[in-house]
Formats: sequence, C-alpha cells, structure tokens
Amino acid sequence: MKLNIAVLPGDGIGPEVTEQAIKVLKAIALEFDHTFLFKEAAVGAVAIDKYNNPLPDNTLDLCKSSDAILFGAIGHPKYDNDPSAKIRPEQGLLKLRKELGLFANVRPVKAYDTLLNKSPLKKNIIEGTDISIYRELTGGIYFGKKHLSEDGNAASDLCEYSREEIERIAHLAFKAAQDRNKKVTLVDKANVLETSRLWRKVVTELASQYPDVLLDFLFVDNAAMQMILNPKQFDVILTENLFGDVISDEASVIGGSIGLLASASIGEKHAMFEPIHGSYPQATGKGIANPVASILSAAMLLEHFHLHEEADLVKEAVDKSLKLNVTTPDLNTKYDNISTSKVGDFIADFISNPKDSNLN
Ligand code: IPM
Ligand code: MN
Repeated sequence: MKLNIAVLPGDGIGPEVTEQAIKVLKAIALEFDHTFLFKEAAVGAVAIDKYNNPLPDNTLDLCKSSDAILFGAIGHPKYDNDPSAKIRPEQGLLKLRKELGLFANVRPVKAYDTLLNKSPLKKNIIEGTDISIYRELTGGIYFGKKHLSEDGNAASDLCEYSREEIERIAHLAFKAAQDRNKKVTLVDKANVLETSRLWRKVVTELASQYPDVLLDFLFVDNAAMQMILNPKQFDVILTENLFGDVISDEASVIGGSIGLLASASIGEKHAMFEPIHGSYPQATGKGIANPVASILSAAMLLEHFHLHEEADLVKEAVDKSLKLNVTTPDLNTKYDNISTSKVGDFIADFISNPKDSNLN
C-alpha cells in the first residue's frame, strides 16, 4: 500500500517522539513492502515563531492532500500563563480538527499486565481494564461562541450540539462496541445541562439500531469516580468534547503513564493520529520522553487502513519492550539510561527481526 503521511511534530517533545513513530512505520513499510511517504510541516508554537500563525496555510494544505496525519504535541509554557495572548499554539490543533472535520477522537485505555505495579491504583482494580473512549472533537464548548466583557470582568463560552453532531459519533461508538464487549456508556451531565439531555435523547433513539449493544448512562462526576473505583465496568465510553478531554487524562493513570496513551481523530475524509499527552516542555531534548504513545498512534494509523497484521506487530513489539524494561524513565525502575530513541530502535528492530531482538 502507498500512503502519503503528513508529519506535524509540533512543540516540546513532539518532534522526538514523532521521530520514533516514523522509525517504526519505516520498519513496517520495509517488512511488508509498503510505500510510506512522509512530509513534514509546522504547527503550534514553532509555527507561531516562524510564521506568526499556529496553523499556516501550507500545513493545512499538506494535511488535506495527505492520506493521514501523524501529529506530535502542542503547547509552550510562554502562552500558558498569559491569558491576554491572542495567538496561541492550541488554536492550531483546534483549527486543524475543525477544518479536517475530525469529529471522533478514539482513545484506547488498557492496563498492561507488565505494568500493573506502575499505576498508583491498586492492581486488582485495574487488572484487565480495556476501554475505548469516543470523545466528540469538533463541537461543544471548545468551539462555541466566546465572549469577554469590555471591562474584562465577565466571560462566557457557549456549549452547543446538534443532533447530527451527536449521531455521527454515536454510530461509530456503537459499531466499535459491536466488535468489543457490546456496551456503550454515555457520559454526560443530563441532570443539569440541556446539551446533555439532547445527547441522551439522540443516543437512546439510535441505540435501537444496535440491539446487541447495551447502553447505559453516567453523569460525568460519577463517571470520574467510577473510572478509578472500578474501571473494568467500562467498554466503550461515548462523551462530548470537554468531558472526554478530562476523563481520558484521568484514565491514563490506569496504564501507569500518560506516555502510553495513543489516539486517532477520525472524520469523513481525513484521519489524524496523535498521542494524548502534551508537549512536556521540561523534558524537551533530554531523551526521556516516552515514545510509546506516538508509536501506538502509528499502530492506530495502520489499523485505520486495515493493515491489521502490521498494527499487531507494532503492538507486539511495544509489549515486548515493556516486558523487557526497554522503557523511558517514567516507567523504568531497572535501567535509568534508556532514551526515547533507544526505545524506538528496539521496537523497530523487533519489527525487522522479531526473534533476535534484545536489549543491547
Ligand atoms: C488533547 C489536548 C487538547 C484538547 C489541547 C492541547 C487543545 O488536551 O488533545 O486532549 O484539549 O483537546
Ligand atoms: Mn487533553
């Protein structure tokens, strides 16, 4: 298969983790006789520095003309504590999601057997957890009208959803559940919010088309508690943009490191693959950033194009690296010098030669 892949490394640790994902995809291409062509473009704070624009036109054009996008991370501390900044790195990512129509963000959460003791949660609570979060990504409070009063002392963000926006992601969530454990949990705040009541109504109606899937509901405050009290109860979680953002960071604690969580952002025409972690500025250039989330995002890219054998091999290689302690310091208690690129090398080597791979 031939794929044109746009690479948007972005800020902070984005470039170093993305480099490992590319390394792994190149190993896959070689092994399975695919042609993957990578073209890079700027996004985020680096694009502001260079072009005064977090999403320059040529970046957007490249994404639109590519088969898939590999995204690194976005954000820089110089913007975080400056509420008056008009141009912000995050705008680049949000505009990209909107322009490409990436309405569904899929975030798998898994407790790896070899990492059960890395999570601050008790082993018996997390063991066997396997959740797929379907977060709506182009609507809700993220994209509603914003307002700041003239005197700067009052502000508002509007949360809006339409039936169509809810239906399209709900269909994906139900279909995913059919291939998994046949349960969808809608997370909302229907006791307070009108938008949440619309979600419940629309999703309940739609559920009749998926009689083999069980639908249940949780208010987001309760869901946040259940996520760490009994995560095994979840199969597919379906939720709106802001709740999905919060719940998925919380869920990353189950895996033992946010550096493990991958995601796919899917639309009708385009698809983008990105780790859920941020730009982790303190770690930039130190070689300590965990590349696994980025590598697993590349595996989701392969899956998206039905390259299942390829994706499974990447996941097997990741499992092996975790088992052998070939991990960055966020997870490693045995070796303290395994760098971002060493993890990438190990995983790529395993793909080229599954039997011989060893830590050297
Ligand atoms: C994420 C991030 C983004 C979001 C930020 C960087 C805008 O936190 O992908 O989860 O809030 O969606
Ligand atoms: Mn987030």
